[in-house]
Amino acid sequence: MILIIDFGSQFNQLIARRVRECHVYCQIESPRIAIKDIRSMKPEGIILSGGPSSIYEKNSPRIDTDIFNLKIPVLGICYGMQFMVDALGGVVKSARKREYGFAELSIKKQTGLFKNMDRKTQTWMSHGDSIQKLPKGFVITATTSNTPIAAAQNYRKRLYGLQFHPEVEHTPKGKWMIQHFLFDVCGCRRSWTMKSFAKSSIAEIREQIADQKVILGLSGGVDSSVTALLIHKAVGKQLTCIFVDNGLLRKNEASQLKQRLKQHLKINIKFVKAKTKFLNALARVSDPEKKRKIIGRVFMEVFESEATKIKGAEFLAQGTLYPDVIESVSAFGGPTAVIKSHHNVGGLPKKMKLKLVEPLKYLFKDEVRALGKTIGLPDDLVWRQPFPGPGLAIRIIGEITRQRLAILREVDSVLLEEIRNGGYYKRLWQSFAILLPLKSVGIMGDSRTYEHIVAIRAVTSKDAMTADWAKLPHAFLGKISNRIINEVRGVNRVVYDISSKPPSTIEWE
Ligand code: XMP
Repeated sequence: MILIIDFGSQFNQLIARRVRECHVYCQIESPRIAIKDIRSMKPEGIILSGGPSSIYEKNSPRIDTDIFNLKIPVLGICYGMQFMVDALGGVVKSARKREYGFAELSIKKQTGLFKNMDRKTQTWMSHGDSIQKLPKGFVITATTSNTPIAAAQNYRKRLYGLQFHPEVEHTPKGKWMIQHFLFDVCGCRRSWTMKSFAKSSIAEIREQIADQKVILGLSGGVDSSVTALLIHKAVGKQLTCIFVDNGLLRKNEASQLKQRLKQHLKINIKFVKAKTKFLNALARVSDPEKKRKIIGRVFMEVFESEATKIKGAEFLAQGTLYPDVIESVSAFGGPTAVIKSHHNVGGLPKKMKLKLVEPLKYLFKDEVRALGKTIGLPDDLVWRQPFPGPGLAIRIIGEITRQRLAILREVDSVLLEEIRNGGYYKRLWQSFAILLPLKSVGIMGDSRTYEHIVAIRAVTSKDAMTADWAKLPHAFLGKISNRIINEVRGVNRVVYDISSKPPSTIEWE
């Protein structure tokens, strides 16, 4: 394993992604980690991340400098390199010229991280301070026009520093450099695969749960479905999943899930019909935040009342992912300081004092998908687009009524069918319809109509933090619009949302 020390860079998750893409396991930890804990983790290598601080600031993040005495290879990136240089007796100064953006790297030594590489390569820089003098034993391995010490190494002690960011796509050969560090310098093996993860995770879950019972809130999304299947493989019928049908789901969602997970994979699922409860609580409510709060509250009530019926349950499983855990907002608090509660079952159910089981908490989304595939989750569940906990309620602008839900469900179903048939489903982060609280005039046959407007939203994204509206072909959009207006009663106009996030959001409410 590779240990990544989080000095607060916005790219930390990317470093972890790059390492994992090389099939090497890695974990991000706070600089406050104790040397004895590092020793017990037995990392093959340590990566010190970049960060926004200057090494000379009073409260700049620091790690115990004994890490340089552990005889473990260290790669310092940007601030991480400056920290290493400063700790080992070199000099870091505020640069006269801040360097930000592309820079051409001239490689002086084609060894270590730069083995077999061309002498010139493009890199991406983002630093204010720069290194004036290297510590004893280090040599310069690369320069740029503004940064004479752009890369350095102490070959004997296996310490490496890069002033630029090898983890970003703007450094095209960065992945090679990381690979050289992992395999040539640290001697890592490519052993991190979802097959090996599944095996060890199932064994761990079995040990943790032993002969006790475990409850899981199943939403039908990929995270909770993979969690369910993994735990099912570990402890079978000791797992009870609770699926709350809140009446705000897409067409056939509950029945498809029943067929796939319950009938086919034999997972123990309790389907709870709570539509009336939700719709009554939502009656005459238009404010988006109020809608969300009501749905959250009713969900908790329903889930808790079902969960307490499961006598002797000791554990609550959640599909928390690694990005939720790391949230590297502050290098000072460290990555694990902030743990986001899971969207829909966060903090549940407190009264029962359940212990948490979170088998996916070290995985990224694409790893979860790969894991799902490995353990036999059907493809359509593995590739399911994200669907928000409050469901169609936040896609009906204004009041939620049974009639409006029925219209939106039909529109959404036509849209999804076309998106799937057109081969766009996997390529889009999300695609869905929104029902507007407006009517407009139309003409059908010889008669005037006055009916609903629906909007279509299709976005591409990597992580939902930013998103771009999908440039779907006009003819394809035309076909969708035609089908919706012809097939769904009550709709006579379709519009396409061409806003990106930011400044818009993906959902409309
Ligand atoms: P926005 O609309 O903020 O959405 O751009 C970002 C992503 O989060 C999803 N989303 C939710 N998911 N419960 C969820 O489980 C929620 O309350 C919720 N609100 C938004 C949204 O679908 C998108 O993928």
